[in-house]
Amino acid sequence: MMRCEGLSKSFILHVRGGARIEAFRDVSFTLEPGQFLGVSGPSGSGKSSLLKCLYRTYLPSAGKMWYTDARAHTHNLSAADEHVVLRLRRQEIGCISQFFPVIPRVSALDTITNSMVARGHPRADSETRARELLERLAIPRRLWAMYPSTFSGGEKQRINIIHAVIARPRLLLLDEPTASLDAATAREAVSLIQELRAEGTAMIGVFHDTALLARLSDTVIEMAPMREVEAAS
Ligand SMILES: Nc1ncnc2c1ncn2[C@@H]1O[C@H](COP(=O)(O)OP(=O)(O)OP(=O)(O)O)[C@@H](O)[C@H]1O
Ligand SMILES: [Mg+2]
Repeated sequence: MMRCEGLSKSFILHVRGGARIEAFRDVSFTLEPGQFLGVSGPSGSGKSSLLKCLYRTYLPSAGKMWYTDARAHTHNLSAADEHVVLRLRRQEIGCISQFFPVIPRVSALDTITNSMVARGHPRADSETRARELLERLAIPRRLWAMYPSTFSGGEKQRINIIHAVIARPRLLLLDEPTASLDAATAREAVSLIQELRAEGTAMIGVFHDTALLARLSDTVIEMAPMREVEAAS
């Protein structure tokens, strides 16, 4: 479903006279449908940058990444057109990160409902499911009609989780999806993620909790600490 070979990402820091920072280097893996690939490593080792490359928020600096879609068409993700990337995000690839890109002036309930409607489900069914999930992740009813832009960090994160899960993506990227949640809500969120996985969603995930990461993952890749490769001249 996804394959990476020698994937690397570095940043040129213009503010530092052109110093080059390597976020990660030479990452290779193969992900089969339904598999869970864990990504671990110390803070700053490039885990978030790797997920951002896979979601094509960043373009990798070197290496290859391929994604085989539901129609068995293989895309060279490093070179795919923006509109292909947008279609894949709409139809197949979901992402939960610590920061929810909130849609302005759309209520929490509509944001989530629309995520399921966009995958071709009737609005009434989608809204029923949205209410069920809002209830399950303990979002108070008084917030359902409000804009998530005004929500607390943990509330935004729960909307983000529901928004991704309700769409039932083929591939879900998880970057510390429970980082801002209290223990009980984090457990509920993890069980939601596990249910989705049991339905066949493949996942690539970063969790701070190493025991949880080991429990969820079929394979774990370990990222090496970041280095500065070229100082400013
Ligand atoms: N847009 C950017 N511009 C410049 N440097 C960046 C950018 N994004 C990430 N980096 C650098 O790349 C390195 C890896 O960052 P990244 O966020 O991927 O680490 P991480 O493993 O997710 O860390 P954490 O566990 O703390 O979340 C860091 O040194 C960071 O400063
Ligand atoms: Mg990170």
